Amino acid sequence: MHVDADLLRADFDTLAEIGATSDGGVNRPSLGESHLAARTWFLERAAAAGLETRVDAAGNHSAVLPARGSTLLLGSHLDSVPSGGRFDGALGVVAALHVLLALKKAAAELPVSLEAIDFTDEEGTLVGLLGSEALAGTLTPETLASPRGGREALLAGLERAGLEERGLAAARRDPRSLAGYLELHIEQGPVLERAGAQIGVVTSIVGARSFSLVFRGEAGHAGTTPMNLRRDAGLAAADFAVAAEELVVRDFAGCVATIGHVELEPGAYNVIPRTARVALEFRSAGALTLGELEASLLARARSAAARRGVELEIAPVGRWEPTPLDPAVCDAIERAAGALGLLSLRLHSGAGHDAQALASVTPAGMIFVPSVGGVSHDPRELTAWEDCVNGANVLLGAALELAGRRVH
Ligand code: HGY
Ligand code: MN
Ligand code: MN
Repeated sequence: MHVDADLLRADFDTLAEIGATSDGGVNRPSLGESHLAARTWFLERAAAAGLETRVDAAGNHSAVLPARGSTLLLGSHLDSVPSGGRFDGALGVVAALHVLLALKKAAAELPVSLEAIDFTDEEGTLVGLLGSEALAGTLTPETLASPRGGREALLAGLERAGLEERGLAAARRDPRSLAGYLELHIEQGPVLERAGAQIGVVTSIVGARSFSLVFRGEAGHAGTTPMNLRRDAGLAAADFAVAAEELVVRDFAGCVATIGHVELEPGAYNVIPRTARVALEFRSAGALTLGELEASLLARARSAAARRGVELEIAPVGRWEPTPLDPAVCDAIERAAGALGLLSLRLHSGAGHDAQALASVTPAGMIFVPSVGGVSHDPRELTAWEDCVNGANVLLGAALELAGRRVH
């Protein structure tokens, strides 16, 4: 049994038009207009194909092929980073839909329901893994109290989507109702392409932490204030950025740290920056190292502030633990790839995924397909269509095994 590659391509291309940017990417920040339009398309496409559809209290959108017993979830996300690529998340949702369509067409008698699910705010424009953590029951009030996109953006997004913050927890599923979770996703890195492998079997997912840093100095006239009399918040932020990179490269091999956004206020050519708001994120495959990395980076931030005589406010705004995926699900994915004559490779994911949340309540696994040049989170993001179809068929094969496995 295979997915219908032509229909898969048609749907993928239709979806890529929603929120499309002129440079071939998509711009679908979570719960923004284009993201909501993509979700509407998904439900309408599923309903038109005769599948049941549902939206839960966290806004997770699903197409369902109902059966008795528990539910095997196949999913990913339709939101994107700002000016992102058209494959990240979208491929997994469309492929999941087409696995259900293939099984519906074959009138397969399965002992479990299959549900293709699009999770809310995977990318963390607002919170990060918002929908998948709500479904897993691991979304905490503390996370919602200091979301990395800010409270205002979160509440505005929930309102646009017709969601209530206090209602999010109702999306929790009883783990006993779940038969497992599978996610097809682009690798977003260079490993598969360099190894010449067609399928990635993801063994674990990196842990990540995000912090909002606000350096507070003193505004002043850019022309009349001597350099040695300044308390320049912008320079403190710049000092920290350079020191952070040096620290990670020198002392934390294999880890990464990113400053993805800096906002200087008041923000004019002729005013010394009073404040510098810095978005810091760092990642490690190991929980212990993540803690050590946090301590070292924040110490560097404090010393950069002290050097410039400025204040520093530090706020944690996101925390995702390193996550091993289920060995039996990995084996099922490997067998499904082998059955199709595809070369697979086991690897760790340096990108975060909804599977990280699902793994805490049900056996979870991920299928990667190669990213051309390892590029992602950019309009240049590309995966060869043959690889997309291979990934969808491995998703189908692994889903059948996991579903069938429930029979015995
Ligand atoms: O940021 C990530 O790792 C993922 O793309 N959300
Ligand atoms: Mn993704
Ligand atoms: Mn992403």
